[in-house]
Amino acid sequence: MGAQVAGEIRSLATCARLCGLLSLYEVTRMYYFIEPMTEDDIPEVQQIESQSFTTPWSANTYRREIRNQASCRYLVVRSSPTPPPARHGPAPQGRRPGLLSQIAAALFPSANGSSHSCPIIGYGGLWLTVNDAHVTAIAVDPLHRGRGVGELLLNGLIDAAYELQAQLLTLEVRVSNSVAQRLYVKYGFQPTGTRPRYYTDNGEDALIMWTESIGTPEYRQRVSQLRRQLYARLQRQTAGRSALRV
Ligand SMILES: CC(C)(COP(=O)(O)OP(=O)(O)OC[C@H]1O[C@@H](n2cnc3c(N)ncnc32)[C@H](O)[C@@H]1OP(=O)(O)O)[C@@H](O)C(=O)NCCC(=O)NCCS
Repeated sequence: MGAQVAGEIRSLATCARLCGLLSLYEVTRMYYFIEPMTEDDIPEVQQIESQSFTTPWSANTYRREIRNQASCRYLVVRSSPTPPPARHGPAPQGRRPGLLSQIAAALFPSANGSSHSCPIIGYGGLWLTVNDAHVTAIAVDPLHRGRGVGELLLNGLIDAAYELQAQLLTLEVRVSNSVAQRLYVKYGFQPTGTRPRYYTDNGEDALIMWTESIGTPEYRQRVSQLRRQLYARLQRQTAGRSALRV
């Protein structure tokens, strides 16, 4: 996808910890941008995973998923205090940039350099089963939640589903996870049933959710409208300077 998807926000961020006693906080501007997950990203992803889920995947599982380009897509969101580095060369495997990338490229300027110095603050993935894209993971660093990053990731995954020519999106979510469910409902996922005692840590049921066909004009229109709102939200969060020249 190689999306230079960025939002500039003001956030209260921990910038230093002195003598293990004192945390200093600083108001900073942050750009958020999406990239395909690489094997080098796995340790950082696992850190967020361990703060978000109780049954983490092994590094080997991530490697296997990332390498399975025929039916899997894994993405990371990075944050940067400066405009995100431009990605050079063609999109991975000659893929065309998705709608999200095209909109973002028009909205946000890029800087040169490597993105790998920018910390990962969220990740997500999906895999294709026949014609359906199954969202396997989506998680945001607890320090960056509530700022549109999860929604940005879900949009990246929806683009990935289009790229894989999926017709429907599905996922399982804990019945108690009302925050995630609200995000999914916003993007047209509806509960269709439960998987009793699906989660092995506490025996909790999973709610199964499905979208309608993502190829219909109605669904595309819905996503397109939500994207406009998301960008407006990210823009409102910005300090509103050069990063948001349109
Ligand atoms: C679920 C998760 C990915 C959402 O990411 P986020 O960056 O915090 O969410 P966003 O700021 O992008 O918010 C997007 C939408 O999520 C929902 N949402 C986010 N925070 C919420 C909260 N505190 N209460 C209720 N709904 C909330 C809302 O629908 C929101 O849209 P809105 O602002 O228009 O109401 C994040 O909370 C997370 O990582 N949770 C732990 C891992 C997890 O449960 N993953 C899902 C597994 S199925």
